[in-house]
Amino acid sequence: MRPQIFQTSITELLGIRHPLLCGGLGPGVSDGRYVAAAVNAGGMGFIVATGHDDPAQFEEELKICRDLTGGKPFGVNLYISRFAGGADRVSKQLPLLEKYGVTCVETAGASPEPIIPMLKDMNIKVLHKVPAVRYVQTAVRAGADAVIIVGSECGGHPGIYQIGSIVQATRAAEIAGIPVIAAGGFGTGRQLVAALSMGCDAILMGSRMMVSSDLWVHDDYKRRVVAGDGTESKIVKQLLGDHHRVLDNDSAKAVLALEDAKVTDFEQYRPHVSGSLTREAYHTGDFSKGMLDYGPAVVFADEIKSTEAIFDEILDDAVTALDRVNTLRLPAANAATAAERHAWRLRN
Ligand SMILES: Cc1cc2nc3c(=O)[nH]c(=O)nc-3n(C[C@H](O)[C@H](O)[C@H](O)COP(=O)(O)O)c2cc1C
Repeated sequence: MRPQIFQTSITELLGIRHPLLCGGLGPGVSDGRYVAAAVNAGGMGFIVATGHDDPAQFEEELKICRDLTGGKPFGVNLYISRFAGGADRVSKQLPLLEKYGVTCVETAGASPEPIIPMLKDMNIKVLHKVPAVRYVQTAVRAGADAVIIVGSECGGHPGIYQIGSIVQATRAAEIAGIPVIAAGGFGTGRQLVAALSMGCDAILMGSRMMVSSDLWVHDDYKRRVVAGDGTESKIVKQLLGDHHRVLDNDSAKAVLALEDAKVTDFEQYRPHVSGSLTREAYHTGDFSKGMLDYGPAVVFADEIKSTEAIFDEILDDAVTALDRVNTLRLPAANAATAAERHAWRLRN
């Protein structure tokens, strides 16, 4: 593991060495072993609470992660449905988090406000994920400890506005007043340095991590990710107002055809979007069917390797990026005023 290079509000808040977070991956993809690998490599990961083949599996994953991390902080991803009863269902899972010593949660979907008092009582930090700057204040008002902002590049659910990460993360950091984590399209150390320069305190990655050898996903799928250049990432279900960035496969094409035909009856979409197809694709490596969350950051995933090796590559790249910026900086930039800089240029 690389020594600590950056100390930010997020490394402090979460008690981690590197400002590198691995977002929750469903259904059941970010499991205990994957999250433990991210934690043991100095970052943070989130076990998805939903989408396991068997719901009892969630507790098993918590146990695995606790045992593999030996007391280090680790996280859980909680999806809060916008439909009635969403927060109640999530509340029922919270005692398990306390039992296994979870220290932080990545919440997504509806506002985490109803569950925040319970989480605070358990001393669990809340990182709420939002797809647009306009929701940042909702997260702040709800009492989140940090906000994760995803741009339209993100694999999964980019929201309806489709604004890129470079604008969203910069603006979110300007207005949030709490630490901001940039997400959507990240996968290199150069981008980590850019995100820190933009005022953020960490990056969170999903698509770039799909090649981690610590993930149970079939190697044929990981090889597809390595081969990807990002152009095969498509947003589907826009007509239903449920924008979803996925791999352009047979299921995505079928969904896009229904949208082209202006079909709004969900029953016609159901056979193509069922979670069981997605699970099967990850298990078998046949990625022709299923909604497979997939963002253009796959372009940075050039080899199947461990999470720790991916983190090391990103951190080394960040140091190179900082060196590059320093070599570009003119000595005159140290001068206090524009007049002094102008005088320096005239002299040289
Ligand atoms: C395969 C995959 C599955 C995902 N599943 C979930 C999920 O279940 N819950 C969630 O909050 N985000 C999910 N996401 C989104 C990620 O946590 C993260 O926000 C996103 O991947 C960041 O953008 P990037 O893909 O450009 O790195 C998923 C992303 C991917 C690539």
